[in-house]
Order: sequence, then structure tokens, then C-alpha cells
Amino acid sequence: MSEIRALEGHEQTAIAGMTFPAYRPLLGTSGAVVVAAYAGMVPIGAAIASLGGMAEALSIYVAPSQRGQGLAARLLTALEDALRRHGVEAVQATYVAGKPTTPQLEATLDRCGWDAPVIRMLVFKADLARMAGAGWVERAELGPEFEFVPWEPGTRPQGDWWPDDLDPARHEADMDLATSRGLRLDGELVGWVINHRIDAVTLRVSAGYVRPDLQMRGRMLGLYAEAGRLASEQGIERLTWTVPIWHPAKAAFARRWMAPFADMQESRGTGKQLST
Ligand SMILES: CC(C)(COP(=O)(O)OP(=O)(O)OC[C@H]1O[C@@H](n2cnc3c(N)ncnc32)[C@H](O)[C@@H]1OP(=O)(O)O)[C@@H](O)C(=O)NCCC(=O)NCCS
Repeated sequence: MSEIRALEGHEQTAIAGMTFPAYRPLLGTSGAVVVAAYAGMVPIGAAIASLGGMAEALSIYVAPSQRGQGLAARLLTALEDALRRHGVEAVQATYVAGKPTTPQLEATLDRCGWDAPVIRMLVFKADLARMAGAGWVERAELGPEFEFVPWEPGTRPQGDWWPDDLDPARHEADMDLATSRGLRLDGELVGWVINHRIDAVTLRVSAGYVRPDLQMRGRMLGLYAEAGRLASEQGIERLTWTVPIWHPAKAAFARRWMAPFADMQESRGTGKQLST
């Protein structure tokens, strides 16, 4: 029978191979809560959460040879107990669905009493060359009254017409200068696309927006198409981007026009109240 225990401080790094690379720097810091399953001295599964603001369950993993025995539910229960010991009253989680073990993950969340998952984002991955062949990309030309300018960090548009989650200020850290652009109309900033390099050949389109009164007639697409052209010049081969479901027009557009040229997955969110 395996034993499950909370890992503290430096010993958390022992399970670094059981989570995503992006979360490994968190291990061993005061912001991480980690529980692990052991068969003797050997770790066979782990669950990780972050503290601070709203606590978030980040990952759960069971070694392939140990799957199918309900270990995930024991790990998740132990993670919840560890969070309670830190005084956490509620925890949330977001995950990308469509993976081979998503049914097991969702059954585990359900068994442990988490809320029914809801779709949060559409997550796209696309081959840039294939995307460039989409008819709407070829047609996405902006009129001569529009001008693309390199994005200067710190630039702020006038007014308050953009949604908070697409505010340039939230996305400028470590942005890719070669492909991020502002869109001007008669000298005034009316849109932007801000991107991040994931690796040598992959670019994430992190935030794109055009002033609402200009959104018709494919202006947003013109901005994306420009970013795609610049990315291609930089040797980028793959694009990733997300479309939040709370921008319904964007989500409907993305399902209809982007999904045929890209791999589309859903990210889903759930949570659990831990206090009684
Ligand atoms: C997801 C994961 C942690 C599950 O671990 P596990 O201990 O093998 O889980 P189990 O096989 O015991 O299954 C858990 C539940 O899924 C159910 N289940 C198994 N196969 C299923 C299927 N095809 N459809 C629906 N439910 C299924 C089980 O019956 C069980 O539910 P129950 O407790 O109500 O009976 C494991 O598969 C894993 O490490 N996957 C890779 C990492 C990952 O994707 N993690 C999630 C994102 S961070």
C-alpha cells in the first residue's frame, strides 16, 4: 500500500519530474503546497497547489504503472487537507481537456466533491504555414488609413474602451518585440497585438484587441495577419493562442474560422470550498 504525505521545503523538488516545467521553479518556495505518494522510498504520484491570492491546484500526476487504483483521489484529498492546514478556505483549478486521461481527472474531481467544470477558454495551436492558407488571412488587408507601429512598452491608448484582461499593461513583460504591434488610425492608437516567444519556433499571441467601433470588416484579422507575417519572417513555425469564452463574439468567430486550421482544445475551470 502506498503512503501519501506532504512535502516541505527543499524535499518538494524530488517530484519535479511529475509536474509541468512551468511549475518546477515554484517547488521548494513558500508558495507551494505539495503532497506525494510513495511506494517505499520511490515517489509514484504527486499533487501541487499554489498559495497566494486564490489558492490554485496546479497539477496531479500518477506514474503510469500505478494508475487505475484510485490514487489520484487519495492525492487530491491529501492536497485539500494540506491546503486547509495553511488556512485556505477555497481552491480553484484550470486544466486543458481533451488529453487521454481527462476522463480520469474529471472523475477524480467529481468524486472529491469539486464543482462541475465549466469551459473557460478555447486553446489553439496552429502550424503557421497552414494558418496562412486560411482564406480570411489572405483577405485580411487593412486600408491605407491604418498604420502598424512597433509596440513600445508603456504605451497606453486614450479612453477606456478595452477589456481588462486584454490590457497591454498585463501582457508587456517579456513580450516579443519583433512581432508585437500597435495599430494606429490617423495617428491614434486603436489596437494592439502583443506576443510572447515560447521557444525558438513557437509564438504565443497573448493579447489582441481593436477599438470596438472599428471591429467590423475584419480589422482584428488584419492585425493578426500582420503578426503572422512578422512571425514567419522570424522563423516562427507554430502559433498558440487562447480565446476566453467570456468574449462571446470572439469565441464564436474562433470556433467557426480558426478551429478548421488549428488544433482546438477547451480549458475548463472548477473549484471547491474547503471550509465547512
Ligand atoms: C489523471 C490521473 C492523475 C488519474 O490518476 P489515477 O490514479 O490513475 O486515476 P484512476 O484511474 O484511479 O481513475 C480515477 C477515476 O476515473 C475513473 N475512470 C477511469 N477511466 C475512465 C474513463 N475512461 N472515463 C471516465 N472515468 C474513468 C475511475 O473509475 C475513477 O473514478 P472513481 O474513483 O469514481 O471510480 C492520471 O491518469 C495521470 O497522471 N495522468 C497524466 C497527468 C495528467 O494529465 N494530469 C491532469 C492534469 S494536471
